[in-house]
Amino acid sequence: MTKRLFQSPKGIKDILPDQQPHWQFVEKKIHRIGQLYGYEKLELPVFEETALFQRGVGEGTDIVEKEMYTFKDKSGTSVTLRPEFTAGVVRAYLQHGLSNLPSPVKIWSLGPVFRYERPQAGRFRQHSQFNVEALGEQDPALDFEIMSIAYHLFEDLGFRKIHFQINSIGCPMCRPNYLRALIDYYQPIQAKICRECQKRLKKNPLRLLDCKNPLCRSPIEKAPPSVHFLCKECEIHFETLKTYLDRLKRPYTQNHRLVRGLDYYTKTVFEVWVEGIGAQNAVCGGGRYDGLAEALGGPPTPGVGFASGLERIILTLKEQKVEIPEPVRPNVYFAFQGDDAKNKVVEFLSILRKHNIEAIMGFGSRSLKSQLREANRRNIQFVIILGENEMAQKKVLIKTMEGGVQESVSWDGLIPFFEKRIGSS
Ligand code: HAM
Repeated sequence: MTKRLFQSPKGIKDILPDQQPHWQFVEKKIHRIGQLYGYEKLELPVFEETALFQRGVGEGTDIVEKEMYTFKDKSGTSVTLRPEFTAGVVRAYLQHGLSNLPSPVKIWSLGPVFRYERPQAGRFRQHSQFNVEALGEQDPALDFEIMSIAYHLFEDLGFRKIHFQINSIGCPMCRPNYLRALIDYYQPIQAKICRECQKRLKKNPLRLLDCKNPLCRSPIEKAPPSVHFLCKECEIHFETLKTYLDRLKRPYTQNHRLVRGLDYYTKTVFEVWVEGIGAQNAVCGGGRYDGLAEALGGPPTPGVGFASGLERIILTLKEQKVEIPEPVRPNVYFAFQGDDAKNKVVEFLSILRKHNIEAIMGFGSRSLKSQLREANRRNIQFVIILGENEMAQKKVLIKTMEGGVQESVSWDGLIPFFEKRIGSS
């Protein structure tokens, strides 16, 4: 029987060591941005009861209808790998009485989410989200703060041409009027739209505006915009948000077609588009969800937030050729000749690392030449050689790889040598 080599599941990527500098660069910025804006970290389980997402994200959405990884656990309870964070954040907020904390409660999370989507560039079945939420406040200044966090992060990462798409899709007071207008507009032209949209017309008319099928492009262009149907409160909210964006000179386009793919949104919705990965792949999306806590059985609690996919952030960094810091590599490679020397090297390595000097050694019984070759391939700055002569003299030979200078140093002088050289380099 031939053994087959396993592959990672379709649409799911390994993040290999050579990609870690990009990930660490982004994660470091995320931690700092959280501190800067006064947001605290919340860690959530990777799976939740399925009903949470059905009720939170919405039965008629693509996520709930087609994309969730849902299964029964051994007790027969239906659970789902989280397809997003927001429903889980609100669940935790209600479950742990976080409403007793000073309002708004400001939270960020980071971790994998799972959607059974058709894999393509920037679209995976497991991706990592940086998710930010602020709960308990209706103020449009908070919508602006949430958008500012995304903007600030992308600016800090070195992105060019960061651009917001914004829209307001109203609230339960004004949305029904809009949906009626949308249905009235689409009904007579039903035969001219795609199959999927014919279903949307019955089930989730707002999503008609989100269709990517070329057949539906022209009907979407001429569809009535939601902003013409906003109630006074929603209108003031949207106008105030825009004054903040104008004052702070944040580039934005009012996009009547932007409705987002999750049902909980009210009032503000937004996405960030950046140069390099295009409009099909928003680097970030979010909005206000003032009815979500109630839909999940809690008291009325306004909320606003966004999420950004780290894979798309990293794709943008690469597309825009942003330079990122070099990864930290070991400075020192300890090579040896003979078993006695090897035993001594094991001891020395422990001491070097205790002194915060990144150091590695060769393993097995390789020749000195092969160890030096390995050090070269690993791009090491200093190679220490402990051969039979050095053992006898209680010394080591330190070779600076760039320039090839060799120095003989006593065992006692080893740490001072590196503290001076690495400390000052
Ligand atoms: P979303 O737009 O579905 O919103 O996802 C947020 C971000 O996750 C997207 O802008 C994109 O960067 C990334 N993303 C989504 N799907 C994929 C995928 N298949 N592969 C790679 N990246 C992906 C939400 O999830 C909302 N919960 C955001 C939110 C938070 N709204 C309010 N608070």
